[in-house]
Amino acid sequence: MQSIRVTGGKPLSGSVTVVGAKNSGLKLMAAALLAPGVTTIRNMPDIADVDIMSEVIGGLGAVVRREDHALIIDATHIGSYEAPYEMVSKMRASIIVLGPLLGRLGRARVAMPGGCNIGSRKIDLHLRGLAQLGVEITSGHGYIEASAPYGMHGATIVLDFPSVGATENLLMAGAAAQGTTIIENAAREPEIQDLIQFLIGMGARIEGAGTSTVIVEGVSSFTPVDHAVVGDRIEAGTFLAAAALCGGPVTVHGVEPEHLELVLAKIAAAGAEVTTGPNSVTVRRTGPLRPVDVATLPYPGFPTDMQPQFMALMAVADGTSVITENVFESRFMFADELGRMGADVTIEGHRALIRGVAGLSGAPVKSPDLRGGAALVLAGLVADGTTTVGDIHHILRGYEAFVDKLAALGADISLIDEDDE
Ligand code: UD1
Repeated sequence: MQSIRVTGGKPLSGSVTVVGAKNSGLKLMAAALLAPGVTTIRNMPDIADVDIMSEVIGGLGAVVRREDHALIIDATHIGSYEAPYEMVSKMRASIIVLGPLLGRLGRARVAMPGGCNIGSRKIDLHLRGLAQLGVEITSGHGYIEASAPYGMHGATIVLDFPSVGATENLLMAGAAAQGTTIIENAAREPEIQDLIQFLIGMGARIEGAGTSTVIVEGVSSFTPVDHAVVGDRIEAGTFLAAAALCGGPVTVHGVEPEHLELVLAKIAAAGAEVTTGPNSVTVRRTGPLRPVDVATLPYPGFPTDMQPQFMALMAVADGTSVITENVFESRFMFADELGRMGADVTIEGHRALIRGVAGLSGAPVKSPDLRGGAALVLAGLVADGTTTVGDIHHILRGYEAFVDKLAALGADISLIDEDDE
């Protein structure tokens, strides 16, 4: 078991390059199942979640090979339609193979994802939408069985909520259905736009990328594609929050600044200077950190995946901030750990009241989930003394070389084996 040890108080400066977005790359790997032949996905993050998705699609028959940051997927033979529980329980995003398997084989058997430590995450919208496309769905013994023996047909689907995963599953199923599928109230995240570009490259006919109405004309076959994953706006936002916390200047390369519009506006409101380039953002702060209120919402709203990192920032701001979490239930678990470092946070339902304190103190803490874990590391960067963050498998799931990248910016940080303690 490894931990991250960070000693606070070091200035952070320099530049760092982010890789492709985890939340796009994983979906593109699933989408590759649609096309017989060899698909190449570039700018793929080297993280544990990609290894799990490789196992998931490998179990279905794809042959996956990594060459540096490229993933080469041979989906010539897809012989199985089952994503077993041992995989889906490791990574909930495995549910995304449902749409492509239905498109490729006309059936899928996928384990039901369990609860997750950022609140209950249902899949009713995925299943309801697929049923509208003519998919017969049954569930039992922990599995969802989905089949479209006579093929899928287009339909107009109005999502109750712009769910990222449901939009993606329906895009991929709709791309292979007969006729026109219209997804209303679709999610608009940059990762969805990336998936749409990928599918179009494979031969799909899709209009409305980046809007809440996506129109998909089904096609009968797909061809492999060579595609580079969109830059990871959440990885970028995490380093920019670290820069705002420690002062910077830090330049993050490899991200589209417009994908971070609201995050950058909030970082500026917190008192930092934000400069953008064509594919980069620089953050520097010389004055005091000001309190800011944020409310998470589907894109282009403030991303829920940046909420914990912002709480770390607000924990040491000069005043009181309110964070309202509108996307997930109980996504404040890391706040208790932040409290162990001296943060003053009161949670009331889906709101957190953060009274800024003059300083945090280093402590042993545990990472409750991916972004909460990253936020604890950020807090450690400015805490007095040493913070040891445990359960970092959560962090390693989603950040490539997180410790090395922060160390290169000047942080006093290292990966340690708990046995060394
Ligand atoms: C994706 C991202 C995750 C991000 C989230 C919101 C991946 C691998 N994960 O997760 O990092 O935080 O988008 O930006 O891309 N819901 C339902 N029924 C459904 C589907 C969703 O009620 O059928 C609810 C969920 O419980 C949750 C909310 O909708 O409260 C958002 O979920 P969704 O947008 O689907 O997120 P994910 O795709 O799971």
